[in-house]
Amino acid sequence: MSDTNSAGANVDVVDILTSDHQDMIALIAQIRSASGDGARDLADTLIAEVMRHAVAEEMYVYPAVEDHVPNGKEEVEHDKKEHDEIVKLMKRLEKAEPAEPAFMELVNELEAQLSHHANDEETEQFPKLRLHIPREKLVDLGEKVEKAKKLAPTRPHPSAPHSELFHKTLGPGVGMVDRILDKLKGRHTDS
Ligand SMILES: [Fe+2]
Ligand SMILES: [Fe+2]
Repeated sequence: MSDTNSAGANVDVVDILTSDHQDMIALIAQIRSASGDGARDLADTLIAEVMRHAVAEEMYVYPAVEDHVPNGKEEVEHDKKEHDEIVKLMKRLEKAEPAEPAFMELVNELEAQLSHHANDEETEQFPKLRLHIPREKLVDLGEKVEKAKKLAPTRPHPSAPHSELFHKTLGPGVGMVDRILDKLKGRHTDS
């Protein structure tokens, strides 16, 4: 069963990914007004949100772009490179202490890269998906993306700090990016 949007239509994959992008930017604003453990917690939430979004895109959306969009392969290659850059930044952010200047510098850099990448997707790839893929398939892709994201849950209320379950599931701080990747991709390494 699929959700419906405010217009009463079934949400499609573009609706879902676009609202993820908005959530990421909103989380960054929350990090800016937090400090200490609260900032660390929100940064961990952001990292988890971005990781599961990016992995879901790579699993379901980018293959559809490759198959249906003219020059899709090149677009996907470009997008994956940007994902890699974002992952690298988040690996630095997971190690940064909120009290150090590097923490906010990394948050700012991450915001710039996320905004750029999200804007690329929303203005280039997403309209092409809607142009070249039947709506039914886009709704189906949306359901697949939601299912994939559930493999690495984030806390239901990002504004509530120190969710026990969240930290038990994914663990805070160092190594989190890799552990989320393992979880999403079904790898079971302990490195
Ligand atoms: Fe992306
Ligand atoms: Fe995206």
